[in-house]
Amino acid sequence: MSYLPKNLPDANLIVGLDTSDDAGVYKLSDELALVQTVDYFTPIVDDPYMFGAIAAANALSDVYAMGGKPLTVLNIVGFPVSKLDKKILAEILRGGADKVREAGAVIAGGHSIDDTDPKFGMAVTGIVHPDQVWTNAGACPGDKLVLTKPIGVGIVTTAIKRGKATPEAIKQVETIMATLNKAAAETAKNYTVHACTDVTGFGLLGHTAEMARGGCVGIEIDSTVVPMLPDTYSLAEQNVIPTGSKRNYEWLLDDVLYDDSVDELTRRILCDAVTSGGLLFSVPAEEADSLVADLKANGVEWAAVIGEVVADHPNKIRVR
Ligand code: CO
Ligand code: CO
Ligand code: CO
Repeated sequence: MSYLPKNLPDANLIVGLDTSDDAGVYKLSDELALVQTVDYFTPIVDDPYMFGAIAAANALSDVYAMGGKPLTVLNIVGFPVSKLDKKILAEILRGGADKVREAGAVIAGGHSIDDTDPKFGMAVTGIVHPDQVWTNAGACPGDKLVLTKPIGVGIVTTAIKRGKATPEAIKQVETIMATLNKAAAETAKNYTVHACTDVTGFGLLGHTAEMARGGCVGIEIDSTVVPMLPDTYSLAEQNVIPTGSKRNYEWLLDDVLYDDSVDELTRRILCDAVTSGGLLFSVPAEEADSLVADLKANGVEWAAVIGEVVADHPNKIRVR
């Protein structure tokens, strides 16, 4: 992002501010690099335990998206101490701690402030071999794209806020957001990952556009096979689309070539902001089906091949 101040050059900073990647990567030795990331937000679901778990899964995800293993976590907490019962905060922290434990990491500390609204998230430090970093660059023409979680999360969580989501839909989206990308990342370690990112605030097409630009390649997405939460389309028909997702759609108009067969609502859904979304892998075509089968066998049930990388229309996405 151009408004960010420039660093002094440092050869050990393998991944820094310039490439809109998921986390910073700093080389300590020929065998070891640090992966560092931070993320926090206001509640997106009503259950404080689930909010904590989701915020943790989301923060940890950026380490997985770099091919790293999370080691230590610092909690970041904003809480209206005089307005809300401290038991709510205890539940948020418990949800977060359970996910950190599941990740095999430890909470090393944190910081909290009195705030007007609750906020929770984490700064996460992980490790990775400097030669095995997954960046969002590196996608090669001929690769297939594999996505590991469904989209529609922004739309369904907006429906929760507007009282339009069924209890089943709430439970489903909470479970998906709270699922760590650990199994997905560990499974993909056995494959040739040319590029990886996680799908979050800029939506599927926003993060796909970063991958296209990162590799200077074109990307084709088959909208009919992208995994999507069941209520997404009918909610979008009722205009239950968050403002951030509408903005994503506008921002991406120059990056995406939509086929006429792709209707307006589907275009919006493909740009819908995601919280704690899946990993998006670019892998050689001949490995894609076996990666998806392996992911499913390891509990990553939504995994699907959703498109391919091409040499045509570099930096742009075509949606069929
Ligand atoms: Co990310
Ligand atoms: Co992030
Ligand atoms: Co990455």
